[in-house]
Amino acid sequence: MFDPDNQQLVIGVVGAGLMGRGIAQIAAQAGIDVHLFDTRAGAADDAVAAITATFDTLRAKGRLDAAARDAAVGHLHPATALADLAGCALVVEAIVEHLDAKRGLFRDLESVVADDCVLATNTSSLSVTAIASACRLPGRVGGFHFFSPVPLMKVVEVIDSAVGDARVGDALTGLARRLGHRPVRASDTPGFVVNHAGRGLLTEGLRVLGEGIAQPADVDRILRGAGFRMGPFELMDMIGLDVSHPVMESIHDQYYQEPRYRPSPITRQRLAGGLLGRKSGRGFYTYTDGKADTPPSAPLPALTSTPLWVDGADPARRGALLERLAPGVVLDEGARPGPDSACVVFPVGGDATGAALDAGLDPCRTLAVDPLFMDGHLTLMTTPVTAPRFRDAVWAALGHSGAAVSVIHDSAGCVAQRVVAMIVNIGCDIAQQRIATPADIDAAVTLGLGYPLGPLALGDRLGAATVLAILDGLHAFYRDPRYRPSPWLVRRARLGVSLLTPES
Ligand SMILES: NC(=O)c1ccc[n+]([C@@H]2O[C@H](COP(=O)([O-])OP(=O)(O)OC[C@H]3O[C@@H](n4cnc5c(N)ncnc54)[C@H](O)[C@@H]3O)[C@@H](O)[C@H]2O)c1
Repeated sequence: MFDPDNQQLVIGVVGAGLMGRGIAQIAAQAGIDVHLFDTRAGAADDAVAAITATFDTLRAKGRLDAAARDAAVGHLHPATALADLAGCALVVEAIVEHLDAKRGLFRDLESVVADDCVLATNTSSLSVTAIASACRLPGRVGGFHFFSPVPLMKVVEVIDSAVGDARVGDALTGLARRLGHRPVRASDTPGFVVNHAGRGLLTEGLRVLGEGIAQPADVDRILRGAGFRMGPFELMDMIGLDVSHPVMESIHDQYYQEPRYRPSPITRQRLAGGLLGRKSGRGFYTYTDGKADTPPSAPLPALTSTPLWVDGADPARRGALLERLAPGVVLDEGARPGPDSACVVFPVGGDATGAALDAGLDPCRTLAVDPLFMDGHLTLMTTPVTAPRFRDAVWAALGHSGAAVSVIHDSAGCVAQRVVAMIVNIGCDIAQQRIATPADIDAAVTLGLGYPLGPLALGDRLGAATVLAILDGLHAFYRDPRYRPSPWLVRRARLGVSLLTPES
């Protein structure tokens, strides 16, 4: 087994494409000798030249001194044959994403390297166990899943296969730290942690669109307002549906049609139509010179004299909403709304219709505001029968204070509530399945997906009991097992403890 801290460590990288280059770059910078091999003639030399150019740029920017630049370049060795990797203590493969190619490569490598050489795969979607099982010594194989661009994405998933030796994962974990990356140890399961945890945002965003609740631009605005760097539709446009739709299908299939990961016919159709996103110039948005033509928000109606009655069942929520009102809005302070007042309710896990009827309010005059996301972008929801005059009165009362408001159709769990609850629930189930520790799940998601918080910390911020209430509301409304809560969430909500609490 290799020692990750060995100052004379020699490794091989096979596949000198995007990922292989990145891995070779960070290894060379960490003082590790790297032999780089690619079957395409000249590819390894090109990669070494490209990495050297990167080091020169870093040097010019003052991020690498001359000695460090020279040392790093000196650690890069293009290989002309697989046999050149004979002396490596570790070989990381980053070749095409085909099971047979990876199995064939590892079998070939086994006839070249020593028996204690570790073989690591950078696969994103294949089973590490299936790759390992082709080897004479399957225990030596582990997953080492980097993200693109490797030098900037400071997280790597270290995957223990079902037939692996735990010392392989230990050594790769140590190496990850030496490379300056945060290792996340995970068991060999579909999507590992990052691509598994990423299902919530995309598939629930697509449910909202598929149900005609809100348009992509509004869903994206609402979720950016909830703290996400990108909403689901701008994210899918950036990744490209040619990549993201097959991943959605693959994870759903590999989990035997688990409804939490159910993909959408919307992306399937759009993929068939070539509406890939940024790369094709048209996706959920259209692009001119690489910039999205985001449709403007709907024009804000004028302020009216219609009085506003705001549900006071939860005084904190009522107070938070009153703070967001424009000056001059007429408030109806009665215990029950007057005959011409617009009514505002605050559903958690429910919709505007249910909240109006449950409170004995007139649904034609009622709107709902998402009470859990009132700090930034506001979500205002109509019932199917809310009269436009009452909708416009509440919209103007909020919008003229300078608040950004999206007016959407009725939705159990509004938009942010249901999307965040799905993200939390999936994160909880990753913990429940013991795929990774709670701390590693959150680290993987913040570093790998750029979310403001990991799913478990996101759940803690809302409160486990609140997330459970949202899911219970969605489950009762849709009668869809997609929304059944994970046991991890249910127990911690009942115990009143953090979702980051591991099993004792
Ligand atoms: N691109 C990403 O964002 C990303 C992220 C994480 C993981 N991955 C995974 O990393 C791997 C590589 O992806 P990439 O984007 O760098 O691909 P790439 O197409 O940029 O590079 C692959 C390289 O492998 C070479 N190659 C193919 N078969 C080979 C073989 N049998 N032996 C030696 N070299 C061979 C090709 O010539 C090519 O240079 C894949 O498994 C992919 O799923 C990719």
